[in-house]
Amino acid sequence: MKNVIITGANSGLGFETAKKIAKDQEFRVILACRNAEKAEAARNAIAKETGNENVGFMILDTSLLSSVRAFAENYIAKYGTVDVLINNAGISSMRDSGTTAEGFEVVFATNYLGHFLLTQLLLPRLSANGRVINVTSDMHNPPGGIEWKGVEYLAHEAMDDRKRYSYSKLCAIYLTHKLDEMLKEKGSAITVNSFNPGFMATTNFSGGHADKMRALAVKTTMPERYGELETSSDALAQIATQAQFSGISGAYFDRSTNTKKSSELSYSKENQEELWKKSLAYCGLDGAGE
Ligand SMILES: NC(=O)c1ccc[n+]([C@@H]2O[C@H](COP(=O)([O-])OP(=O)(O)OC[C@H]3O[C@@H](n4cnc5c(N)ncnc54)[C@H](OP(=O)(O)O)[C@@H]3O)[C@@H](O)[C@H]2O)c1
Repeated sequence: MKNVIITGANSGLGFETAKKIAKDQEFRVILACRNAEKAEAARNAIAKETGNENVGFMILDTSLLSSVRAFAENYIAKYGTVDVLINNAGISSMRDSGTTAEGFEVVFATNYLGHFLLTQLLLPRLSANGRVINVTSDMHNPPGGIEWKGVEYLAHEAMDDRKRYSYSKLCAIYLTHKLDEMLKEKGSAITVNSFNPGFMATTNFSGGHADKMRALAVKTTMPERYGELETSSDALAQIATQAQFSGISGAYFDRSTNTKKSSELSYSKENQEELWKKSLAYCGLDGAGE
């Protein structure tokens, strides 16, 4: 049996992907969610529809490093190994703002930093040909572009920056690129990729703003950004589980099982390095004080 973890799997893309993966009884699927009631309801719905009794849930709030640590400890104690980690949980800067109890800008913390730590803590437990998939967005490269302002700014100062979401998704791609490079250097068969589901009007993500008219407007005026929950969850489930993707790493899957280049900025080695080093320090993994 293979173990799959999906963060933020009680709704939207995470939920649909979990359901698709759980249809194959070879997979145990763990829904890593912040709300126990929603997680249990999702778990029950997936188990009922797929007949897979190995669907479970565990509490994880990706905005808090303390919660990520507790989740990783509990998960490892219970299941030991991971075959697939899908870093999917996400919030929009249109709905959420402020600072976490640990002092980080909340979108950066939820969408990126929590997943960075989760990945670090689970990496030693990934199977030899394990897979990590970071759910990102084409909005890592928003209309009008984006200017890198440094990690300190994103982590602590970007409270009123309308592009906070875009930065968090750019950081997710930096995580993919840097980890991919490190894994390849070690000769590891573990893969790490980014996945862009596209603008999906039917999830909870936009909190009701994504009505039918807006969806139609995006579909007609920005077809290169438009996505569908059904096709994107289908693609994500395939990339996570199917044999033909085992050799692909460091790629950006675009709303499908097809890859393309992410933005030019997302390949900046300098930014990748800065983000990696600072993230280790924020997570207390840089060896300082030892
Ligand atoms: N929908 C789009 O247009 C779109 C476009 C590009 C990329 N994406 C990305 O796709 C991913 C899934 O989003 P979605 O569209 O499926 O939206 P969704 O239905 O709102 O799903 C997001 C999930 O993340 C969970 N979550 C939020 N904050 C969390 C936290 N601190 N800890 C743990 N879980 C948390 C939510 O849980 P609660 O139910 O508790 O809030 C929910 O289960 C996100 O990463 C998003 O950025 C979405």
